[in-house]
Amino acid sequence: MLANVLLVIWHQVRYPDRITLIRGNHESRQITQVYGFYDECLRKYCSANVWRYCTDVFDYLSLSALIENKIFSVHGGLSPAISTLDQIRTIDRKQEVPHDGAMCDLLWSDPEDIVEGWGLSPRGAGFLFGGSVVSSFNHANNIDYICRAHQLVMEGYKWMFNNQIVTVWSAPNYCYRCGNVAAILELDEDLEKQFRVFDAAPQDLRGTPAKKPAPDYFL
Ligand SMILES: [Fe+2]
Repeated sequence: MLANVLLVIWHQVRYPDRITLIRGNHESRQITQVYGFYDECLRKYCSANVWRYCTDVFDYLSLSALIENKIFSVHGGLSPAISTLDQIRTIDRKQEVPHDGAMCDLLWSDPEDIVEGWGLSPRGAGFLFGGSVVSSFNHANNIDYICRAHQLVMEGYKWMFNNQIVTVWSAPNYCYRCGNVAAILELDEDLEKQFRVFDAAPQDLRGTPAKKPAPDYFL
């Protein structure tokens, strides 16, 4: 995990005009202490400093990104406290991910078919939101669709609500045992979409984690 974090940070530093990293709910001090990143930094460097520096960088990551003013990209989803993109621009994001509020919701929320409007999230942070919420947001902000991640999709990507939101999941065989394929969404200069679906590398060609991931963790 540390190697991946350092690699994407390297890309951001090396190609600042071409790479935008979007913060997810795992890019926080609290989550990384529970799910292995802190332990890995300590094991590899015998000090918590690398974890400290990485989590300091996380505070500066974007909460969302707008592609050609038409595709709204965010890790989790929408927030009842946010109806316009300008409201996101006013968030003071340089902080640990809060437990509630707009910044928290953007990183933790999920779209849900059976929810009308807003619903409580079983994750304990963020909200569930239905198709009408997505329609209103996309219309109000002149957005074609929302592109987000945050939920395992066995087929790599999944459209919902009449193609108004897509989930793109880029970790194949998540936790080394979910058996899912993964996807990356590629857009050309005309915003034509192409999903690149890929499988995990064969077991014998990659390392295995020193410590097994938490067994019930699929968020
Ligand atoms: Fe997530």
